[in-house]
Amino acid sequence: MKFSASSAAACAALLPGASATIYYAGVAQSGGEFGVWSDTSVKGTGLPGQFGVDYQFISTSGVDVMVDENKVNLHRIAFLLERMCPPADGLGAKFNETHFGFFKEAVDYVTVTKGAYAILDPHNYMRYNDPSQQPFSGSVIGNTSDPTAATTAQFGEFWGELAKRFADNEKVIFGLMNEPHDMPSSLLLDNLQAAVDAIRAAGATNLIIAPGNSWTGGHAWTEGGAEASSEWLHKLVDPANNTAIDIHEYLDEDFSGGHTACTQDPVTNLEEVTAWLKEHNLKAMITEFGGSNTTECATMLTDLLDYMADNDVWIGWTAWAAGPFWGTYSPCCTDQYQFGSLEPGSKAIGGSQSLYDTVWLPVLQKKVPAKLQWSGPASVDGGELTEKP
Ligand SMILES: *[C@@H]1O[C@H](CO)[C@@H](O)[C@H](O)[C@H]1NC(C)=O
Ligand SMILES: *[C@@H]1O[C@H](CO)[C@@H](O)[C@H](O)[C@H]1NC(C)=O
Ligand SMILES: *[C@@H]1O[C@H](CO)[C@@H](O)[C@H](O)[C@H]1NC(C)=O
Ligand SMILES: *[C@@H]1O[C@H](CO)[C@@H](O)[C@H](O)[C@H]1NC(C)=O
Repeated sequence: MKFSASSAAACAALLPGASATIYYAGVAQSGGEFGVWSDTSVKGTGLPGQFGVDYQFISTSGVDVMVDENKVNLHRIAFLLERMCPPADGLGAKFNETHFGFFKEAVDYVTVTKGAYAILDPHNYMRYNDPSQQPFSGSVIGNTSDPTAATTAQFGEFWGELAKRFADNEKVIFGLMNEPHDMPSSLLLDNLQAAVDAIRAAGATNLIIAPGNSWTGGHAWTEGGAEASSEWLHKLVDPANNTAIDIHEYLDEDFSGGHTACTQDPVTNLEEVTAWLKEHNLKAMITEFGGSNTTECATMLTDLLDYMADNDVWIGWTAWAAGPFWGTYSPCCTDQYQFGSLEPGSKAIGGSQSLYDTVWLPVLQKKVPAKLQWSGPASVDGGELTEKP
């Protein structure tokens, strides 16, 4: 049976106690991970890089527009593990303090200055030591057959240290890792568990979001037999009961976000992961999704956001992507055409309207709930909903 958003809404209305609510909504801020690509795979390219030239986390004016005018309360801020923990020292509790200072400034701007929530996003695909051809380069963290790989314990030490530094900021959410892929799911679970344990041992009770395998794709959640994310992720134990699942979902033919045409119906494709979340009493956010400026994409993006709003396992979302350095380039969904990004004020090549004008404002902005959580700790249970203070 085809499951539709409208039947879900009708169903939710009939179930006593069922209430579906989006508490957190906004954009991914992509830019902290920029400047390390090497066509010829030269290890170390762009490291450490020059802040403000090669990479930058946010533009304060862009965040101002998103929060003050668009009234979004969530920003997912990407950074690279190799900049936070330079390879010479290895992954762990020793940070590049200068780099950390720049990152903290961005996180504090979003959370303290603007009063919104921020997801910390190590944009590393569960790999470390060579981002020169992300998402495929680098050693898989915890690969004991690879002498150059960082260990699971080191991944825990890294998260313990980062968590300690943000434990006193209840608006900070820990996104454990961007898009793990092509690795054993048992190792993924071990790494995630090490991170959760270290975060709680550091005394931080902040909301955590944990990704699955296979690029954490919602459509792929139950695929892969014994390796399927649905066979593993519910085994993650959080002593503070404050961990949600982090899902990505693109709408093009191969779910990559690389194409203009939206052809993958999100409502059908998310049916199984939604059922799995319900079965295990888990909540989730979609922290990457996107579409181009076509009528099909407008319909499917609307369907996706309505579907989340109608199903109470979904508590939040961030669209891919805004960020200070996109210029006329597009973060997704344009077949490589330069239609700009979700960054307010960005332009398509030639100066015409960007994805901010053609997708954010007419489509996504309409689905930002009028009431979101603006105070109190980020939580799997959400918090008090108010209009932006
Ligand atoms: C630490 O970060 C700063 C700022 O980006 C950079 O100038 C410096 O070279 C970095 N140090 C190491 C060891 O990577
Ligand atoms: C782990 O490392 C070995 C040795 O380098 C390699 O053959 C294997 O593919 C790696 N596993 C993963 C999941 O990357
Ligand atoms: C977490 O949930 C379990 C099971 O419902 C419960 O026993 C435990 O007390 C909870 N822990 C916290 C810190 O709320
Ligand atoms: C939207 O997309 C089409 C191609 O699909 C493009 O030609 C057009 O310039 C884009 N921008 C606007 C503002 O419509």
